[in-house]
Amino acid sequence: MIMASQPSRKWNSMLGLAAISLLFLNVAFCDEPNKLQRKLSASLNPGCRDFCENNTAITLVHIAAASDTDTIHYVWDFTGKPTILVALTSKHAELHIDWPRLMDSKPGSVSFTEVPQYTFMAIINRIFQYDDAHDRAMLDDDTNVFVYDPHNFTWNRSLLWSNEEDAMMAINAGDDFLFKLNAYSTKDHGMNFPHLLHTSNSTQIDIVFNNITNRFPNPRFAIELLFVVSEQAVVGSEFEVTKRKTLDDEHTPGIFEIIDVLSPGAFTFSAGGYIEFRPVSYTHPERDVATSTETRQSQPVTVRSPSAALQTTLAYALYGTKLDSYLVQGMNVSFGVSEDGFYRKTNYTTMTFQVGYGMPPVEELSAFVLVVAGIGIGVPLFVLIASAIYVCTKKLRNRDRFQQQRL
Ligand SMILES: *[C@@H]1O[C@H](CO)[C@@H](O)[C@H](O)[C@H]1NC(C)=O
Ligand SMILES: *[C@@H]1O[C@H](CO)[C@@H](O)[C@H](O)[C@H]1NC(C)=O
Ligand SMILES: *[C@@H]1O[C@H](CO)[C@@H](O)[C@H](O)[C@H]1NC(C)=O
Ligand SMILES: *[C@@H]1O[C@H](CO)[C@@H](O)[C@H](O)[C@H]1NC(C)=O
Ligand SMILES: *[C@@H]1O[C@H](CO)[C@@H](O)[C@H](O)[C@H]1NC(C)=O
Ligand SMILES: *[C@@H]1O[C@H](CO)[C@@H](O)[C@H](O)[C@H]1NC(C)=O
Ligand SMILES: *[C@@H]1O[C@H](CO)[C@@H](O)[C@H](O)[C@H]1NC(C)=O
Repeated sequence: MIMASQPSRKWNSMLGLAAISLLFLNVAFCDEPNKLQRKLSASLNPGCRDFCENNTAITLVHIAAASDTDTIHYVWDFTGKPTILVALTSKHAELHIDWPRLMDSKPGSVSFTEVPQYTFMAIINRIFQYDDAHDRAMLDDDTNVFVYDPHNFTWNRSLLWSNEEDAMMAINAGDDFLFKLNAYSTKDHGMNFPHLLHTSNSTQIDIVFNNITNRFPNPRFAIELLFVVSEQAVVGSEFEVTKRKTLDDEHTPGIFEIIDVLSPGAFTFSAGGYIEFRPVSYTHPERDVATSTETRQSQPVTVRSPSAALQTTLAYALYGTKLDSYLVQGMNVSFGVSEDGFYRKTNYTTMTFQVGYGMPPVEELSAFVLVVAGIGIGVPLFVLIASAIYVCTKKLRNRDRFQQQRL
């Protein structure tokens, strides 16, 4: 009797397993599809007719990302120090540029037709090559540094491409610094490592430090980023660096951490600016775990007299001396970790980060992980339940038999 019922029990457990897997698949794939959240429209050097024509050295890209209710403007500006602007406005606000005055770094040369509800700017202020004599991978004030001023770079735009869903630009300073910028209309992971999760509220910047002449025996690179937010600078208001752990490293193998640098508005009201990156740098064009090293960031510090420090940036063109009342902070990010062989090992290192409005998106478990987890939990659970039932029925039967024998 018991022998005969075993095959059917096995069959049942198979069905159960299939049902559990299906359930997880269902949860995973019935997730809201990646629907268009904003419609993009990009323009190069808007309103510049004369000297921008036939000149690949002048690059300012404006992308209006419009939703049903508002517009987020992204500006990728390479006319001064590279600056990424994220501005939230009503649906109909337009960007206006007075080109001759912008070229002279005049305040007010860039404006919106209405005051934006919020603006956030990330500026690549300086790039450092430094001598890491003691292999500590830390940029200190007493290290020997060579400073690159990105304002002095001669930019060469090699690719610009856009439609309603994506915008992409590649722009280089010689063969040394290779920049790639993206804007998106949906929530998804980036195409290349580290596959950062983006939304239509963010834009991505990827920088390659490519085959740059070594100036020290043990060279490393670092970058100084400055952040300007349209939030008043008050005592105690500071950018906050937070580290989030992720459950799986499916998208960025080997890296379980995400670093967010949040403006006070972002971490108190979820309405502010942020920078987000994974603490990873790739040391080879074929990005992989094996060709990766770490990054380290310093604590944000306040920039003194921003309107003087930011003269040659879009921030000054937009705000002028008003900058002095806004919160302006900066931080350094250094590439490499002790014992990784320094920059000279491959003469290649990368940095990828996102700049956005609101809160950085949270990684969700993917369909693949859910199915694996479903099988991993489902099978043992089913075996457990099946064996419990088996033991129970056997006990009951035995008791029945025992009672019958007693009768
Ligand atoms: C730009 O190049 C085109 C063709 O090469 C030429 O016809 C045009 O006059 C140039 N414009 C300016 C402002 O130099
Ligand atoms: C940048 O160029 C200016 C002049 O064009 C020069 O005075 C300055 O020293 C340069 N800065 C760097 C870091 O090379
Ligand atoms: C700009 O880049 C393109 C493609 O990378 C290259 O062919 C061209 O020679 C570069 N121009 C300058 C002025 O460096
Ligand atoms: C790196 O630059 C050197 C000159 O500084 C050049 O000879 C070499 O070919 C370059 N290597 C690559 C891989 O581009
Ligand atoms: C990196 O570049 C330096 C010169 O700047 C050169 O001496 C070194 O051999 C290069 N390293 C590799 C791995 O090519
Ligand atoms: C970045 O590092 C340089 C060199 O040590 C230092 O002078 C500068 O103040 C640092 N910048 C920030 C924003 O911490
Ligand atoms: C994206 O921006 C909109 C404003 O248009 C804001 O309401 C929303 O909260 C932002 N999304 C995230 C995830 O922060």
